[in-house]
Amino acid sequence: MNPLARSAGELTLDGFSLTEVARRFGTPCYVYSRAALEAAFRDFDEGLAGVDHLVCYAVKANSNLAVLEVLARAGAGFDIVSGGELARVLAAGGDPGRVIFSGVGKSEGEMRAGLAAGIRCFNVESEPELDRLEAVAASMGRVAPVSLRINPDVDARTHPYISTGLAANKFGIPHGRALDACRHAKALPHLRIAGIGCHIGSQILETAPLDDALDRVLELAAAIASEGITLSHLDLGGGIGIRYRDEVAPDVRAYCSRLARRLAGRGYEVMLEPGRAIAGPAGVLLTRVEYLKLDKAKRFAVVDASMSELIRPALYDSWHEIVAVADAPGRERARYDVVGPVCESADVLGVDRDLALAPGDLVAILSAGAYAMVMASNYNSRPRPPEVLVDRGHALEVRSRESVDSLFALERRLDPA
Ligand code: LLP
Repeated sequence: MNPLARSAGELTLDGFSLTEVARRFGTPCYVYSRAALEAAFRDFDEGLAGVDHLVCYAVKANSNLAVLEVLARAGAGFDIVSGGELARVLAAGGDPGRVIFSGVGKSEGEMRAGLAAGIRCFNVESEPELDRLEAVAASMGRVAPVSLRINPDVDARTHPYISTGLAANKFGIPHGRALDACRHAKALPHLRIAGIGCHIGSQILETAPLDDALDRVLELAAAIASEGITLSHLDLGGGIGIRYRDEVAPDVRAYCSRLARRLAGRGYEVMLEPGRAIAGPAGVLLTRVEYLKLDKAKRFAVVDASMSELIRPALYDSWHEIVAVADAPGRERARYDVVGPVCESADVLGVDRDLALAPGDLVAILSAGAYAMVMASNYNSRPRPPEVLVDRGHALEVRSRESVDSLFALERRLDPA
């Protein structure tokens, strides 16, 4: 579901005027649609209806408490990668029994927190991690449920920075080591093997690599079963891509129902870990034009958002659609580089965009519900923007704008000499 529409010459999100959001909360500002979050979650959940399943939203994509609460109420589980994300899920009312813990570098403290909370399982990414988890579980007198994350050595054909399923990537247990790792885990008395899984990358647009990864996971599951180890679930990770520009993204329902058909009757619960496909299209970054610089070789529209609020274009050269919030009939379009106020030439939000702009205009940067606010920084001492959730006709500020004072509240001046 695309929450954006134009009505009376103005861009709305879930029917709510973005001009009104800017008037009430200022710019820059992240704005999310509750209905779009729920609809995207349902695409996964209902698509998998033919098989026992759990859709674990990848918290890293957008970890605002209200977003987590919306998804928890819709029935989501959560894929976390840190103690911080665990604390967020619990603070948002998420069920720890539906939390799976991914990540290559879990600390002892994070393992302890996960065990104390009673999470569903740890997605273990290496043999040393198995040993550490065994020791932590033993010290707490607990048995830790584990799922082995396998690196299937499959090319997800996405940006190299977000490809995770190749042998050269740091993630997962090499496919060839998986059976040994399983035997190793089986011998550890404070571990219980619950499943195996993989996650091959992000912004994946073709389903063939996902299918290949599934083949490898199924092969391995059969080998593990022949050792007398019963797996209760298979986790196929996240990674489904979305349309930022003109990409053809996989149809989530079709992909999930294919998965359900393929896996039905095998006795496994199926888990997925989608992040971007749930949160990405549900949000925009609202910003205002500060200046038009027309005296250079290129035209620049300087807006009040920057790489500090949306680093994806600078980091991955990614493309986000940029649109004027209000129609400006009769105004001439021109080609702009849309840039922020930050002192970096990489502080570019969009290159060569045809827009009809004047200073003071509002523009929306689309598909900014995922990997936007969560990757924001305070670079150039910029307070992070507020987050607003549009929920059934109301705009709720679900995170306030940071104050300038808070930026240095943890800092100290020198003792008086
Ligand atoms: N599961 C695991 C173990 C992951 O590492 C990730 C993402 C996901 C699930 C969710 O993937 P998704 O469904 O969102 O593609 N900052 C980058 C994306 C990094 C993704 C990292 N891992 C970006 O802005 O494109």
